[in-house]
Amino acid sequence: MKDLSVDNLTTIKDLSKSDIELIFNTADNFKKILNQPIKKVPSLRDITIANLFFENSTRTKLSFELAEKRLSADIINFSSSNSSVKKGETLLDTVQNILAMKVDMIVLRHSSPGASIFLSRNIDAKIINAGDGSHEHPTQALLDSFSIRQNFSDFKSLNVLIIGDIIHSRVALSNIFCLQKLGAKVGVCGPSTLMPKFLKSLNVEYFKDLRSALSWSDVANVLRIQLERQKLKYFPSLREYSSRFGVTKKVLDEIKNKVILMHPGPINRGVEISSDVADSKQSIILDQVENGVAIRMAVLYLLAKKIKK
Ligand code: CP
Repeated sequence: MKDLSVDNLTTIKDLSKSDIELIFNTADNFKKILNQPIKKVPSLRDITIANLFFENSTRTKLSFELAEKRLSADIINFSSSNSSVKKGETLLDTVQNILAMKVDMIVLRHSSPGASIFLSRNIDAKIINAGDGSHEHPTQALLDSFSIRQNFSDFKSLNVLIIGDIIHSRVALSNIFCLQKLGAKVGVCGPSTLMPKFLKSLNVEYFKDLRSALSWSDVANVLRIQLERQKLKYFPSLREYSSRFGVTKKVLDEIKNKVILMHPGPINRGVEISSDVADSKQSIILDQVENGVAIRMAVLYLLAKKIKK
């Protein structure tokens, strides 16, 4: 079996198309195991992993933890709310102290863009970025594309739309890089105030109008409005945002094509997506969550293979 070309997973930008395909093929195998009565394999029996979450998480934290347990790794969990970070300890000091306990891999969620890249340059352990501020969320993009791959034979003729708060979204940026590497066309839709200044450099199509955008799409990934990262007022009210960009059954009924709907979670029901749409047959939201465990098992397994003991 081939190896990944990278030693850490800090950004999708570092991955080649064949790295992504290797992760998908490995995840296919782990997904089969996850559907068997005995879901555990001994692959990471001698590996210790620290899950460092300096920011809130439900899906990513639990999905990594479960993936590590299914691979038989030893794990320790850290959250900043009850740690000595509160006493002024730096990220680097915190991580170096954890590594002194003989930890091999770090899964890091942090509010600062570039935090995992900074760590990968300063410590001797494998780093996986579990979301760094508004920068990237590589495993989310991998599980999103893996979920799309289950519904289409090829990315080449696919139009994938990302709707909403692009400027604050690490999911959007990682998805754009991942989907383009796989050959899909990517479009974005939302208020112009929620588009980054560097949008042109991303080589995506911009849609102001939700119906035109959905008519163009095979798949639409709906994002949450990230109020916790918004320091300014980007649109008049959530109600106005919903009326123009909320994905509802009424909007879907007005377009001719059947679009597959995704959401990375957490969902704000009734804001960016209505409950009936989120829970409909068109939605693959829970498939994304299921696939997250297999994708994270694949990433952990492939990076652990590169640890020199
Ligand atoms: N998709 C995602 O990152 O969700 P959490 O913030 O719950 O981990």
